[in-house]
Amino acid sequence: MPKSELVRWSATYSVGIKLIDDQHKGLLDLVNDLFNHVSADEATERAYFQKVIQTAVNYVKVHFATEEKIMLATRFPGYAEHKKAHDTFVLTVVDNIRDFEAGKKFTLAGFTRFLKDWVLTHIAIMDKQYFTYFKQIASRKANGRLTINQGDLQRR
Ligand SMILES: [Fe+2]
Repeated sequence: MPKSELVRWSATYSVGIKLIDDQHKGLLDLVNDLFNHVSADEATERAYFQKVIQTAVNYVKVHFATEEKIMLATRFPGYAEHKKAHDTFVLTVVDNIRDFEAGKKFTLAGFTRFLKDWVLTHIAIMDKQYFTYFKQIASRKANGRLTINQGDLQRR
């Protein structure tokens, strides 16, 4: 079956930090992978979801932790609100998994739609807030550039 894309990363989603942009691309890949496994057969969908969901959750957690470290390191004033949005999202996904494991009605299309809508809205609104803030900080720096790399994050 040819792979199709439900979502495609574009420069409009960029938050100005390559590491985060790459992780966001990974999230969109995840959405597309889920989308490509939507089928008419619930048992097949369940088996796939069971197989991939824990890895997906771990990926999301690593991504959120990366963003949160950067926000803390740069004293981003919207940190608490942003962290709360991440935590609420994780709790919602955990609830979804619990319902899934309890055998409640599950459709991969429904979960994929929820994930797509949340990720795109979150990037477009909340992640863009720290993007704007970082640009303000960067403009105050003598060289006009703000560079954050993985090494910097691990030292903090
Ligand atoms: Fe975020």
